[in-house]
Amino acid sequence: MPAETVARLLTRVIGLDPESLGLKVLSGIVARRLAAVGCPDEATYVRHLGRDRAEFERLIEEVVVPETWFFRDQGPFELVAELARQRRAAAETRPWRLLSASCATGEEPYSLAMTLLEAGLAPEAFVIEAADLSARALAAAARGHYRARSFRGISAPPAWFAPASDGFRLDPAVTRLVRFRQANLLSPDFFREEPSFDLVFCRNVLIYLTAEAKSRVLATLVRLLAPGGLLFVGHSEVPLIQASGFAPVPRPMCFACARLERPEASPKTDLRPASAPARPARRPAKRTQPERRPPPVPPAPHVPPAAAPEPAPDLEDAKRLADAGRLDEAAACCRAILGVQPELAPAWQLLGCVLSCQERTLEAVEALRKALYLAPGDAEALSLLALLFERLGEPEQATACRNRAERLGMTADGGGA
Ligand SMILES: C[S@@+](CC[C@H](N)C(=O)[O-])C[C@H]1O[C@@H](n2cnc3c(N)ncnc32)[C@H](O)[C@@H]1O
Repeated sequence: MPAETVARLLTRVIGLDPESLGLKVLSGIVARRLAAVGCPDEATYVRHLGRDRAEFERLIEEVVVPETWFFRDQGPFELVAELARQRRAAAETRPWRLLSASCATGEEPYSLAMTLLEAGLAPEAFVIEAADLSARALAAAARGHYRARSFRGISAPPAWFAPASDGFRLDPAVTRLVRFRQANLLSPDFFREEPSFDLVFCRNVLIYLTAEAKSRVLATLVRLLAPGGLLFVGHSEVPLIQASGFAPVPRPMCFACARLERPEASPKTDLRPASAPARPARRPAKRTQPERRPPPVPPAPHVPPAAAPEPAPDLEDAKRLADAGRLDEAAACCRAILGVQPELAPAWQLLGCVLSCQERTLEAVEALRKALYLAPGDAEALSLLALLFERLGEPEQATACRNRAERLGMTADGGGA
């Protein structure tokens, strides 16, 4: 594989799965960086990376995907609002602790802050911490200035924004409520000195990581979550979390999971970091002392049910709506299906197709990436993704997708092999 040594380094340090980016894309990035620093070959460049921290940061900026927008998926923020109202009604005095663990350019933690303020919580009733690997993304977050694409999930910027040159500026009453820091989810020190969190958002980052890195990050998230806390992940990440000792809260489209009381009972995934020592065998209790019981696990917060029961969604209905050109309804139907079955790859693929017809290119890319995460051999999704990358002026990504699709026996014009 070209750029193999750099790929291995990135996997080791930030957990990146090179396949998630596309091997050709990664090779292109490495070739560009080699040229920029004047290294003749990859081996020299890797030695250079060892000496030049700033260049390693520049490389990281090239490989991360800081794609995000305000109130992404909506459902998680509706649930947070309801939980916040419960806390206010219960007159909780302990500040509620929230973490946005891969916050990118800040839209996610700021959406949380606006949600809590609008739910009636006073600023001192909560703490929002936010972290990301990308210094560039964090600098944008700190500016609090956003363009229209950051509002793609909602009809208009909320009242907390004021029009500013070429975009919108977020009210400092909101920006000052989020504490940002640069941190690597793979680091054993990630928020180690902090008290645990009631809500942890770690959305749409696990999809870019290797299996081993996912397992390490999950171990970290388990450490960070307070007893009874909730972990929010991206749609396509729910099955992974379920296999790791978490149970989804019974509410569609919010992608929140609570830790099972006895995660050991779920044998599917080893959550221990590779370097963690094996758990010592339990010693028999001394006869003279009463047995020490573990502290009782507080119950998970009461999660209010969705307002109205969802009708049973059906992919065939979504297809019929799409075929009839009723694209808004087709997209809504796909989303309803995914609310119940977030791991249904064909629904993501159809949603991507519908969104692409609606010229909602970035959302379409997101949906197709999820389809491919769940079904990596979906040549149709790859072909469509190639066309979308071309539309976005990303020829390298388009070529990487087309090559993968061709390897799977389908060309980008949709013809079979
Ligand atoms: C697609 S964005 C997700 C943003 C937001 N959570 C959301 O769902 O809208 C993924 C973010 O994860 C960050 N990231 C990738 N690897 C990371 C790591 N090892 N540690 C911390 N952040 C990481 C990237 O810099 C990027 O900003």
